[in-house]
Amino acid sequence: MGAFQVIPLDHIGAEIVGLDPLTMTDETKKELYATWMTYGVLLFREAAPEPETHIKLAKVFGDLEIHPVKSLLVDGQEELIQLGGHGKNSGGARVMDGDVRIGQTYWHQDTAYTPNICKGSMLRMITASKRAGNTVWTDTSKAFDALPKELAARIAPLETLQCYTDMPRRTWGMPGHELRHARPDEGPVSEVVVPDFPHVVHPMVVTHPENGRKALLLSPLGYLTILGLPEDEADDLFEEVMAHTIKPEFCFDHSWAENDLVLWDNRRTLHYAAGFPVDDDRMIQRATLAGPQPTGRHYSAEADQSAESASA
Ligand code: SIN
Repeated sequence: MGAFQVIPLDHIGAEIVGLDPLTMTDETKKELYATWMTYGVLLFREAAPEPETHIKLAKVFGDLEIHPVKSLLVDGQEELIQLGGHGKNSGGARVMDGDVRIGQTYWHQDTAYTPNICKGSMLRMITASKRAGNTVWTDTSKAFDALPKELAARIAPLETLQCYTDMPRRTWGMPGHELRHARPDEGPVSEVVVPDFPHVVHPMVVTHPENGRKALLLSPLGYLTILGLPEDEADDLFEEVMAHTIKPEFCFDHSWAENDLVLWDNRRTLHYAAGFPVDDDRMIQRATLAGPQPTGRHYSAEADQSAESASA
């Protein structure tokens, strides 16, 4: 038997069993990396119950980057960010279909509000919510491969305009659902200090730099429009692609236990944090993998609009 076992999860991803991050050989690290590239999402249970081991395990998959939202950094361990239900790391409460939740983050790709999305991330659950708090990942390469051919060809040359926000314009891919910020009498308001990120442009279809497969880069949380299309047409198209991408057959829906770790390849997945009731608690730490995929660019109203009118 090797240094770990790989147990495929239901639709996407795999669980790694029996790994000791403190005694990994170079051979084991290579195998682990290759397993990550195969599955896109890896779950480890109880493998790294301290921040130091979390960092060590995350570094098997690449260098770590210091997250651009500085107010989230863990004091003394700046390679980690902490996302908590309450206090300075709170993203504020939101109301989803009348249900007040904290820790809710709509479907997104990490750092998609910068021109170069990060390579991946690894979350460790410190305090699990007793009643909710699932995170769901979708494999956008699998979703791309299953797109109807005409739809894949239609979006291949298109680019989205993206911004930093904590609230999507619509619940893309989940039509009919309602999401809004909670009023102060309903739950805590956000205390995260967010820098002013300029708008960026990303292609909707990218080629994975390591496995050569196509993947969707949609990050609906910050989606504003598709360049070059009338707004309604852009939104209808984006909705159609999103509804396809988050079908259950492309997803891993994880109900967390304490000291679970999940690693994901941000270049071929989207993820969604469902949130949890405001009277419950949940605390996670995340390492972010550098090695950006240079897909996007900063939006320039002048350059982008003249390119659009030239191609119209
Ligand atoms: C994240 O988007 O990295 C946070 C996911 C979560 O809170 O489950």
